[in-house]
Amino acid sequence: MEQWRAVTVLICFYSRYGSTARLAEAVAEGARVSPGDEVWLRRAPELDPAEIIRQDDRRWRTFQDLARRFPEPRPEELERADALVLGSPGYFGTIASPLKRWLETVLGRFWQGQEMGEKAGAAFCTTSTVHGGNEVTILSMLASLMHLGCVIVPSGYLYPPLRRNQMPYGASAVTGVTDELPPTEDDLAAARALGYRVAHVARWLLVGRGQEEFRRRYPAWAPQSAGGRIDDLAPGISPRKPEGQEHP
Ligand SMILES: Cc1cc2nc3c(=O)[nH]c(=O)nc-3n(C[C@H](O)[C@H](O)[C@H](O)COP(=O)(O)O)c2cc1C
Repeated sequence: MEQWRAVTVLICFYSRYGSTARLAEAVAEGARVSPGDEVWLRRAPELDPAEIIRQDDRRWRTFQDLARRFPEPRPEELERADALVLGSPGYFGTIASPLKRWLETVLGRFWQGQEMGEKAGAAFCTTSTVHGGNEVTILSMLASLMHLGCVIVPSGYLYPPLRRNQMPYGASAVTGVTDELPPTEDDLAAARALGYRVAHVARWLLVGRGQEEFRRRYPAWAPQSAGGRIDDLAPGISPRKPEGQEHP
């Protein structure tokens, strides 16, 4: 893959006991299949203090392992990424608070701008039970991405692993009431397929934006550009202009 078409995918997840982290790794494996693409796997900052986490042996061990392997996301990574993929365990049927807090603090300043609207967005989750909020948790993350204007990439049933998994909204796994079930090979394959798809759509957006930019710079190539006409229909809507340039 030529460098000019390479994309960067930012995967930001929270995980207390490791299942969501395992799914995040699978999404990353799928997103990384085209040479030149970059995938950043990042852990939403933990909110609980160390003395609370230490009280639970399993949680403490997982926390140390994840902290060693996955850095926290930096705001500039978010700005540079072509796609944002969110992952969370379902807590009381919705997004776990560390990821929610990261969304509210870091993304809070983007919600009215155009920065996020040019990125692809997708989501994955794990829950103990099928009906304990598995779908709702994914939909909650997708709703946040919609508020930011991201172009939503669902799993759908496009590829065989996604048809086997039967989860059209994103990737997910069910870990059992005592968390005894690690993600299955089918869950991981579906997560890889979602990663592949989100990188693929991010590439379409990148290449499409490149063409728009080309037409703006060389108006003779764009006799039918929508240009300022859309501004007459819906004032202020036209795409970002390069510094000091007007639409043809
Ligand atoms: C505070 C809390 C709330 C939870 N709420 C739900 C829930 O509403 N539904 C459910 O199915 N599982 C629930 N779980 C279980 C987790 O979603 C499940 O164990 C998940 O796979 C953990 O992911 P992790 O290993 O990445 O931390 C909850 C767990 C915790 C700690």
